Amino acid sequence: MFRICVRTGANQARRVAARGFGTRAAAPPSALRNAAWAVAGAVGCGLGYLYVTDASAGIHRYVATPLLRLLDPEDAHNLAVAMLKHGVCPADRKEDDGLLEVELWGKRMSNPVGLAAGFDKNGEAIDSLFGLGFGAVEVGSITPQAQAGNPKPRLFRIEDSSAVINRMGLNNDGAQVCADRIRSRFWRLLVSQSKQQGETVASLARSVNRSAHADRLLGINLSKSKTSASDSHADYVDGLQRLGAYADYVVVNVSCPNVKNIAAGADVAVLEETVAAVVRARNNMPDYRPPVVLKIGPDNDADQLRLIAQLAIDYRIDGIIATNTTPSRPAGLVDSAGVAKEAGGLSGAPLRDAALATTRQMYLLTGGRIPIIGCGGISTAEDALAFAKAGASMVQVYSSMTFDGPGKAREIKDGLVGLLKGRKWTDVIGEDARA
Ligand SMILES: Cc1cc2nc3c(=O)[nH]c(=O)nc-3n(C[C@H](O)[C@H](O)[C@H](O)COP(=O)(O)O)c2cc1C
Repeated sequence: MFRICVRTGANQARRVAARGFGTRAAAPPSALRNAAWAVAGAVGCGLGYLYVTDASAGIHRYVATPLLRLLDPEDAHNLAVAMLKHGVCPADRKEDDGLLEVELWGKRMSNPVGLAAGFDKNGEAIDSLFGLGFGAVEVGSITPQAQAGNPKPRLFRIEDSSAVINRMGLNNDGAQVCADRIRSRFWRLLVSQSKQQGETVASLARSVNRSAHADRLLGINLSKSKTSASDSHADYVDGLQRLGAYADYVVVNVSCPNVKNIAAGADVAVLEETVAAVVRARNNMPDYRPPVVLKIGPDNDADQLRLIAQLAIDYRIDGIIATNTTPSRPAGLVDSAGVAKEAGGLSGAPLRDAALATTRQMYLLTGGRIPIIGCGGISTAEDALAFAKAGASMVQVYSSMTFDGPGKAREIKDGLVGLLKGRKWTDVIGEDARA
């Protein structure tokens, strides 16, 4: 067989040579050539498509995100949200490793890496954000009335510190618009799942997470309208009543440093009344009762942390997010462009130590009985693991994604699997804090 081929090949070569040098070798028939080009083109396009639609592809981190950062920070943010909203975005294609599984409030998450509040303030891009691989997506903060927030510019990057300063002032579409949007998304997904699974919508509604994904959580972060009194807690109750039925957990944001009337973070009496009112309203909800989570700042002293922990225990708060942004400017902040003088809350890498310390303190003060969600300056798997060991059951990121792009959740998840060395995420929670 081999010899026949060789001989045939030799004969062909002789025939080509006989036609003389300088004449072109016989080209394959053009239909065949066109088909070959078409196949090569289709394969190339397919591979290109697979590459650019993969959230962890280098093109997003090293090309698209730096290009986006050439824009004004708020324009870049709005463009990113608009693209996600319309599905013009990559996705995380890998399955989550079983080591990363965690359960909070009886709800399973396939991984403990969440997106913090403030990115998708109006719940417009929830499914694309889940598509990036986050185990939880927190939308908001949402206030009862729509509000425009502070005058622009109000969002700044400190490039040399991988930090962000914002004084957005809780701009959002208001509770009613957001509730309508989030509710219609939930029912739309349930109707399509009921067709696929042959189950009734009503029975699905009883069994699935509010995220409408079996292994993901949707958090809804609530805050107060700018015009509300400092000591009023009615806005949180209003938000809970309008949005709570669609949340896997509801966050009471008492720690935004950009809104003057959120005194609850600092004033313990107001905080107690707020917590009591929200928990009471949640307990009075007719069917579904979402877990209530308190979001605190990174600048509480030891006494304040003790009081917050005691309130959380006494009122059976379901979780604590540590932390929000800080109005302070940590010593040693590298800021060659002089951005740090801008008023607003600082987030990103320089916040990490304070947020980590707050996480550890809250874990210890609550005796590990209340899930802590670690947030602040988390950029790597090492950061996420440090927060877990300090007591966080789950972590959240925001600023690091704006610097490194949409592959952040996948990057942290892959890194964690390596760092855990066969142990489960749930095995390490609080390990360092207890030591
Ligand atoms: C631009 C921007 C807007 C934010 N808006 C909110 C918000 O509306 N509600 C809230 O609870 N936290 C908000 N945050 C705080 C984040 O949720 C998070 O707590 C903080 O940024 C620390 O995490 P990071 O260092 O990973 O960014 C915002 C943060 C940024 C950068």
